[in-house]
Order: sequence, then structure tokens, then C-alpha cells
Amino acid sequence: MTRILGIESSCDETAAAVVDDRHHVRSSVIASQVDVHRAFGGVVPELAARQHVEAIGPVVRAALDEADAGFDSLDAVAVTQGPGLIGSLLVGVCAAKAIAWRHELPLLAVNHLEGHIRSAFIDHPEIEFPALALIVSGGHTSLYLCPEESDYRVIARTRDDAAGEAFDKVAKLLGLGYPGGPVIEKLARGADASSHAFPHAQMKDGSLDFSFSGLKTAVRRLATERGLAHHEPTGGDVSDEVRDLVAAFQRAVVRVLVRRSLAACKRERVKSLLLTGGVACNKSLRDAFAHACDRAGVTLYAAAPRYTTDNAAMIAAAAFLHYEKGAFAPLDINAHSNFPL
Ligand code: KG4
Ligand code: ZN
Repeated sequence: MTRILGIESSCDETAAAVVDDRHHVRSSVIASQVDVHRAFGGVVPELAARQHVEAIGPVVRAALDEADAGFDSLDAVAVTQGPGLIGSLLVGVCAAKAIAWRHELPLLAVNHLEGHIRSAFIDHPEIEFPALALIVSGGHTSLYLCPEESDYRVIARTRDDAAGEAFDKVAKLLGLGYPGGPVIEKLARGADASSHAFPHAQMKDGSLDFSFSGLKTAVRRLATERGLAHHEPTGGDVSDEVRDLVAAFQRAVVRVLVRRSLAACKRERVKSLLLTGGVACNKSLRDAFAHACDRAGVTLYAAAPRYTTDNAAMIAAAAFLHYEKGAFAPLDINAHSNFPL
């Protein structure tokens, strides 16, 4: 048996997990900082780094305790090296290096995006290649072609905002609070998504790239015209007008994600589609993908909701691929805020 401790601190979640043999998650502990950042309507990098410093020790301890594992039972320690907020990443990287040095363990450096892709394998180790992976989160909206294990080729990305970022910005401009995704999903339930028809951004060059800033601007214009824009969280009841508006926004995001992903599956002739990243826990997105994949004869592997938003189980799971190849990281690695996969 091989056991890896994973550490993730790239944004506003401090997380640690113990995973055995690629996908047996023994523990996955996540300390969320949303309450700290909520007052600011978004993640404040300096505050995030400070919170990670306080949380990292107890979170690692809790992950080991929950797994009933000691440091001496580990085979390696893995950490997110990037991309992400540099101050946040550094806390995890320093903690992982210290653990590796003190307990004489190999260190594994993982790309956060590879972690998101591997999150789908935790509950579906049987996924076959070639596969296509959609990562749809607060920082990224990208499609990767994976011809085989450990081979990732980006075939589409967002040209401006990420989908999760659009959810967050729309929620903010309507005074609905932070993070926007879960709030909008809840408000959209039962609302009239056909109340507004937002245009879909099409790339003139025929590429499959995404763009969400036009949609966000369209929502802002409409909200301003109707006096629905707020600069501070309203905190009160939300009108049906706002609920219909966010439902229409959500539907527009879902549609473009589904269409581009299925067009990519067809173009690349793949039969497996992986749905990952924070936005992938959205139920209407999951349902729309399930329906469309079913019709297209594509097998959908959506990451379990608990592994869609940032977590360390996916980092440890991805680290197994590096461990098995003996691709260990030296103790002098640095964190990289920009770290392409
Ligand atoms: O993967 P993640 O935790 O962090 C990044 O790597 O970015 O994703 C966070 C993003 C946020 O933008 C949040 O609003 C969005 O995922 N999100 C959702 C939902 N839950 C989280 N978006 C739509 N619907 C949700 N239920
Ligand atoms: Zn993420």
C-alpha cells in the first residue's frame, strides 16, 4: 500500500488529505475562509495567506487523525505548487517541505489543475483514455484533451473571466453575497430562466474558447436599468425579478459550457468527458451535462461534489502519478502563481 498526505492552499481553502493507493480517500479536511472574505465580497490575498498560516498545522493534524495515520505511515507528502495566490501557495509549500524534511519523506509538487482533473478519478478509477476534461472554477475555465494518463493538452480556455468568477461578480453586483455560485444556484431554483435571453459569445476564429465578460456586462446593464444593482450586500429578501435574472444568467453559463464541451468531444472523437472544478458542483450544470452527454453517446464522469471545490484529496490523488514515476521534487522548490499545465 502507498499512502500520500496531500496539502492544498492555493486560494482560500486550507486543506489536507490522506489518500491510499491512488483513490482511497482516508480523510479530507477543508478549513474554508469564506467567512473572513465575505465582508469584502471576494478573496483578499493578504488575509488569505495569514489564515493559511494559522490553519495549516491544525488541518494537517486533523487529516492524519481522521485517517488514523501517523507521519511514520506516510510514503510521501504532496503539495499544490501553483497556480494560485502566491502568499497562499507559499504556506502550503513551506509546510510540505518542513514535513518532508523532518520525516524524511519524498516531496511531490502538483499542479492545481492536474488535481482538479484527477478529482474525477477518485470515484471513477475506471475512466478510459482518451478523455476530455472540463475544469470550471473560480480561476479557470479550460478544456483539456487527455490522450493518455498524465498527458494534458489544453484545447480551449477562457479569454477573460472564468465561469465561477462570473458567478461571483454577478452575485456581487446584485448584492447577493459571496461566494456567488452557491447563492445564485439556490436563488435560481424554481425561478424563470427564460425571462431573459442572453447572447452567447461565439469566437470569430471558430475556436472553442470561452468568454464570460460580455454576459456579465449584459447582466450589469440590465440590473442597472431596472435599479437592481447594489454596491453592498442587501442581506434581505430577494425579489422574483432578481431570481429570474440570476436563473437566466445561470442558464446562459450552463448552455455555453455544455455546448463547447460537447463540440470538443465530437471534434476530438473522445467518448469520456470529465466535469471538474468548483462550478461543477452546480446541480443544474450537472443535470444539463448528464442530459447532453446521454444524447451524444458520451460517458460523463462528474467529480463528486465534495471534490469539486478546492480540496487536498485531489492533490494527493494526482500526486500518485508523480510518485509512481519517481518524479520527486527537491526541497528547494518555489511556489508559482502562474503555473501552466
Ligand atoms: O475550484 P474552486 O473551489 O476554486 C478555484 O480553483 O477557483 O472554485 C470556486 C468557484 C467560485 O467562483 C464559486 O462561486 C464557484 O466555484 N462555485 C459555484 C458553486 N459552488 C462553487 N458555482 C456555481 N454553482 C455552485 N453551486
Ligand atoms: Zn481550484
